[in-house]
Amino acid sequence: MYILMKTLEELKLISQHYKRGKEWREVLMESLHKRILEEGIALSENVLKVDSFLNHQVDPELMYEMGTYFKKYFENHNVTKIFTIESSGIAPTVMTAMQMKLPMVTLKKQGSKILNGDVYQTTVYSYTKDMNYELTLSKKCINKDDNILIIDDFLANGEAALGAARLVEESGATVAGIGIVIEKSFQKGPQMLKDKGYDVYSLARIVKLSKGNIEIEK
Ligand code: G4P
Repeated sequence: MYILMKTLEELKLISQHYKRGKEWREVLMESLHKRILEEGIALSENVLKVDSFLNHQVDPELMYEMGTYFKKYFENHNVTKIFTIESSGIAPTVMTAMQMKLPMVTLKKQGSKILNGDVYQTTVYSYTKDMNYELTLSKKCINKDDNILIIDDFLANGEAALGAARLVEESGATVAGIGIVIEKSFQKGPQMLKDKGYDVYSLARIVKLSKGNIEIEK
């Protein structure tokens, strides 16, 4: 019965998993973790460049696989909508929303004339870019009964995810959880979000970066 409920893609991953006697996270390591290690460039102790599959060129199959894992983790969280933050969060989020059969909303980083007034807005400070931006959500895209999953590409200091959560909570809705593609575990975001009680699930956790070297939690 459990097996019958799975999508074809999940069945494919499950069969790889059983064939090789591996845990889910180990199967994921063979795709996302491998790509990070083979193609990622540690620019410094704080910045990882992954322009060949996530932040510039995008690998749709890998994004789809990420969606499968986010679905697997969050499918029993009663999620009603999935939010992301423009722009690199969009690809993994749309693949997750498609598989969870849920609507997706992209939070804008600046006010828009089209959104026109009826918005929730919060200022977010980016340490990486040393700048503020206005995270913006149209009131039409959320109501107080919503249970929102927030997905983003990177988790560094947690300011973007926290800003997204503020917008959700300002509307009276609830945050179901936070899904992250690449978490930099040595920066303050992951612990800060967990301390605030959010359920944070990261597909890859980078524990250390130094020029030319990337360490991922196994
Ligand atoms: P925070 O939200 O966790 O506090 O992160 P921060 O403001 O410091 O990050 C600002 C931007 O930099 C975000 O992208 C974030 O995804 C990205 N970023 C943070 N650390 C890294 C890293 O090590 N590598 C890469 N490649 N990006 C990182 P953004 O401005 O929203 O850009 P985009 O989503 O439009 O691509």
